[in-house]
Amino acid sequence: MKAVACTPCAIAEAAEALESGLLVAFPTETVYGLGADAENPDAVARIYEAKGRPSNHPVIVHVAPGADISYWAQQIPEQAQQLIAAFWPGPLTLILKRAAHIPDAVSGGQDTVGIRCPSHPVAQELLRAFKGGRGGLAAPSANKFGHVSPTMAEHVMEEFTQELSPGGLIAAVLDGGQSEVGIESTIVDLSRLATHGPVLLRPGHISAAQLEQVMQMPVASPDAAAPRASGTLDAHYAPHTPVVQIRADELDQVVTQLQARGKQVALMSYQAHPAIQTSAWRYLPADPVSYAHDLYAGLRELDHAQADLILVEALPQDQDWQGVNDRLRRAAFDSRDVLARLLG
Ligand code: TXA
Ligand code: MG
Repeated sequence: MKAVACTPCAIAEAAEALESGLLVAFPTETVYGLGADAENPDAVARIYEAKGRPSNHPVIVHVAPGADISYWAQQIPEQAQQLIAAFWPGPLTLILKRAAHIPDAVSGGQDTVGIRCPSHPVAQELLRAFKGGRGGLAAPSANKFGHVSPTMAEHVMEEFTQELSPGGLIAAVLDGGQSEVGIESTIVDLSRLATHGPVLLRPGHISAAQLEQVMQMPVASPDAAAPRASGTLDAHYAPHTPVVQIRADELDQVVTQLQARGKQVALMSYQAHPAIQTSAWRYLPADPVSYAHDLYAGLRELDHAQADLILVEALPQDQDWQGVNDRLRRAAFDSRDVLARLLG
């Protein structure tokens, strides 16, 4: 199967497939999502099956611009209204108390629901066509559980070859070009405002400082009792090749040592390193917004290089880089000992 160009006809067909309980992958400005009717528990169960994801992990409900949020959430605090006015449509997910009639399946059994209105025009057209704009699409990122999120239709095709074959779980992939933001939405929990204030569950393109400025109150880091979020598991967003972050001033030396032991090194850097020569090298822009845009495509490309490991030049630690650093830390989580083993 091929990815489908987004003609009005293709969107109408995709909406129909979703209404009948099938899955459709679609572009958003952050990453591609694997969508299902959020009010159809069987359809939502198909997402878990296709992704190989544990079914107690909640998924985000995507809604059309201007949708009635009170249909999905039972308490909509003033802070939610302020953030919606400032950042929707856009890469921000709000966690709110779930309305009683919303199926358990979307919230992984928790009493909250994650809601987001995406800004990508194809996502919006699809949401307007689906159930006449009054429905919600449960959509996690369109990748296998724990793997790198897709920012292009081709990435989705690569992830789900079997599920996209005739009679498979996924009816179509809508091709809307490369996702502009490139990393998943910022998630802020507003479901426990009275006791915890707003809590940043996942950093992203919209920063904690921007949220604080709009709400005029501090945004806390997650505590032990914060709602579970799979994107906040320690290991996540990982390519198959181990990823190791190395400080810029150690990069030359580490590459030399690895190559002396006959290891194949793939490198991702944002600065020039004239002394280094490797067969696979992805050079990413030195500003956080452009870096995020290219990050996942870069990791996928280097994952194809058949290297022993992917070395990533460690990034600055300031706030602007928080979203990207969060994803890289999780991509590298399982590979801490890899370098020692390859050098040993
Ligand atoms: O940018 C995005 O958010 C993308 C695009 C497709 O919209 N979606 C995405 O979905 O990243 P996913 O499922 O890969 O990550 C959603 C995150 C997960 O960490 C999930 O646990 C969390 O949102 N989440 C969803 N509903 C939640 C809830 N009720 N409480 C806590 N976390 C929730
Ligand atoms: Mg994901």
